[in-house]
Amino acid sequence: MTISNLFSLSGKVALVTGASRGIGKAIALGFAGAGAKLALVARSENKLLEVQAEIKALGSEAKIFPCNLRQIERIQDLISQVIETFGQIDILVNNAGTTNGRQKASMSTQSPRDILTQIYQRELSKIRCDLHNC
Ligand SMILES: NC(=O)c1ccc[n+]([C@@H]2O[C@H](COP(=O)([O-])OP(=O)(O)OC[C@H]3O[C@@H](n4cnc5c(N)ncnc54)[C@H](OP(=O)(O)O)[C@@H]3O)[C@@H](O)[C@H]2O)c1
Repeated sequence: MTISNLFSLSGKVALVTGASRGIGKAIALGFAGAGAKLALVARSENKLLEVQAEIKALGSEAKIFPCNLRQIERIQDLISQVIETFGQIDILVNNAGTTNGRQKASMSTQSPRDILTQIYQRELSKIRCDLHNC
């Protein structure tokens, strides 16, 4: 077993929020380098297209899903679109800065991150259920 096999993400699909710059972009490029397919999420379509091009140059596949995650009613659609495109989501990197600097404890309602995690987990259990015919 080589190091690259050990850390290979070949065949995995990663959804990265905040993938247009900063930490999210760095994670997306790192995962692509390890062989993952990427679902790139942020508001700026142009920036996502640039990251998509960088990932393609690494020989990996990426699709962009421009979305404002603060519009929480769009999150279910986002997850459905990614699953429709790739058939699966193996890794969620829930990185986008969506709180405008407010601490979670000071937010009266659930954050977009919480909602994204909940919907992701629900969809994941549906996929597992389909796989096991339950
Ligand atoms: N950098 C640090 O030292 C540090 C330290 C501790 C914690 N963090 C946290 O780590 C996360 C990433 O940090 P960063 O420094 O990489 O931040 P950043 O450079 O400001 O990048 C934030 C990313 O989130 C996206 N984003 C912001 N609001 C969004 C929204 N409403 N819907 C969808 N996407 C949205 C941005 O893209 P668009 O503008 O195109 O939407 C961008 O891709 C943040 O949550 C930050 O609070 C960072």
